[in-house]
Amino acid sequence: MPDATIESVLQEGRIFQPPAELAARARIGSMEAYRELVARAEADPDAFWGEHAREQLHWFEPFHTVLDWSNPPFARWFEGGTTNLAYNCLDRHLDGPRAEKTALIWEGEPGDSRRFTYRELQAEVCKAANALKALGVGKGDLVALYMPMVPEAAIAMLACARIGAPHSVVFGGFSAEALRDRLIDGGVKVVITADGGFRKDKAVALKPAVDQALAGGACPTVEQVLVVRRTGEATPMEQGRDRWWHELVDSQSSDCPAVPMASEDRLFVLYTSGSTGKPKGVVHTTAGYNLWAHLTFQWIFDIRDDDIHWCTADVGWITGHSYIVYGPLSNGATTVMYEGAPRPSKPGAFWEVIQKHKVSIFYTAPTAIRAFMKSGREVPDQYDMSTLRILGTVGEPINPEAWMWYREVIGHGRCPVIDTWWQTETGGVMISPLPGATPTKPGSATLPLPGIAADIVDNEGHSVGVDEGGYLAVRRPWPGMMRTVHGDPERFRKSYWEHILGADGRPLYFAGDGARRDADGYFWVMGRVDDVISVSGHRLGSMEIESALVSHPSVAEAAVVGRPDDLKGEGIVAFVTLQTGLSGDAALGAELRKHVGAEIGPIARPDEIRFSDALPKTRSGKIMRRILRALAAGEEVSGDTSTLEDRSVLDALRV
Ligand code: WTA
Repeated sequence: MPDATIESVLQEGRIFQPPAELAARARIGSMEAYRELVARAEADPDAFWGEHAREQLHWFEPFHTVLDWSNPPFARWFEGGTTNLAYNCLDRHLDGPRAEKTALIWEGEPGDSRRFTYRELQAEVCKAANALKALGVGKGDLVALYMPMVPEAAIAMLACARIGAPHSVVFGGFSAEALRDRLIDGGVKVVITADGGFRKDKAVALKPAVDQALAGGACPTVEQVLVVRRTGEATPMEQGRDRWWHELVDSQSSDCPAVPMASEDRLFVLYTSGSTGKPKGVVHTTAGYNLWAHLTFQWIFDIRDDDIHWCTADVGWITGHSYIVYGPLSNGATTVMYEGAPRPSKPGAFWEVIQKHKVSIFYTAPTAIRAFMKSGREVPDQYDMSTLRILGTVGEPINPEAWMWYREVIGHGRCPVIDTWWQTETGGVMISPLPGATPTKPGSATLPLPGIAADIVDNEGHSVGVDEGGYLAVRRPWPGMMRTVHGDPERFRKSYWEHILGADGRPLYFAGDGARRDADGYFWVMGRVDDVISVSGHRLGSMEIESALVSHPSVAEAAVVGRPDDLKGEGIVAFVTLQTGLSGDAALGAELRKHVGAEIGPIARPDEIRFSDALPKTRSGKIMRRILRALAAGEEVSGDTSTLEDRSVLDALRV
């Protein structure tokens, strides 16, 4: 655990109470109310979850069993029930005045904008669902989305859910190679993409990456490609395989019944990086995920009917799934989707969106906040952001300085800052303040949500003491938990359920994060304890980047570690040994960075490449990453180095 972080955090004594006006109107408006919910969930988890599931979701058929945990770690929730996520997000809001309420506000990067009421969005989703059926997509067929941030991305996700075709959204910033891996692993039938999108004031093509991924019959299961026109640039279409969205979807009927799905029917697959091997396809299922996205959205943002909610994530990540699309729509809220990002020509882009659309709940990442801090408060001060009432953050630890800046400069001290800890695997937020109840401390995600048995434990699964570091773990299943790794249930067990042996013999969910708990029981998440690097809140596996480097003909061996970065949280440093006879220089370094960009995507490009003749290894040949991490951070190598095979390697690596 990084000691410096613990020190700075321990000195952090500030506490902020929830604003009285907010608490007075909140669903959960006091710590007593929170504790009462926690106690109810503890006393009888099945009754607690069962009641929420019955009250918060629409069921075609009621469930008969809340949880079947007879075969851990494979949980089955709400068995016997049938429901549909798209129905819960759309149709059930059409009975009353909510039908004419704005469901989705979309703001394009060049300043174009579109709005959909619930009724309009439902019609668009039905048309898209009928189009998918026309392409031969049926229940259980996997559909991949490789899209810019346009309304059609959300529409396509909901269309898939409507007909029971699981989606696999692949972040549009991933390379053709990374897309191909995911298409093959999933056995995808149809790909939905766009000609391109707008990024930093220019059109960026997307469809060519799909063509490249499919070239030479590399993905034999993919039958058709549906292409949204966004940029209008010339886009080659392959006869018989590629169809334009506007030609196929617009002419469809806007009537398409939602298919009743069994609770445990697969809802989506979303790939994420772990310590080992290729990214894994995290599988979420229908009812449990829906309930968790719905409930957490309601709790952590204390959603009101007149709220305008904006989450700045991309739909290619879990945050976009749960808090741009499914959580808000399931609650009948108004959600904002923004194609752009702040850029030199428009440093106030985010604040402009808040001012223009009167955003009341704003949810973003610490990396973005740190970048705003750097460019000074003059930029946000030019905008009217008085509509804001709640500020959220997600994706990586937030340093107390950034937390305070967020609260004071963006929230003018009025808005609670909600630091939410969770993962792709958890489906929704797990540890977070409740804005009307929880006193907040800068840098702490505070307390687990009701029903979430989060703990900090040692290797044997014993809870550690106050202010002692340990592993973040969850002791009981929860509805939004991932169900398996696509195609590899054993990997699911190994990656998450075998690291910590529960003292009572019951398995614990191992999150891969280190954390500590203070005397008030507040959680302070420190960061990953495995070989996952978090760059601007995006998860990347060291091994993935290493494999990309080794696939270059000049590279013999590579080891990749993270190093602290003021802006991005972590930067990537690659230690590379070259094939015999070659020597490294700046040009080769640049070429290798480019190579990693092409293999995975620009976010995975190392910040620094260090060439060396050898890497520090144990006598059994394991690379000692602890040493490399210290070297990358410019720290002294401390701790035991007695297992190091060749000490001269260390001296050569110091720069
Ligand atoms: C990190 C993103 C500290 C953590 C929703 C986790 C955080 C990983 C926080 C999951 C937070 C997320 N404080 N760290 N509030 N939120 N993380 O799957 O390391 O992209 O394991 O999900 O992000 O990243 P993922």
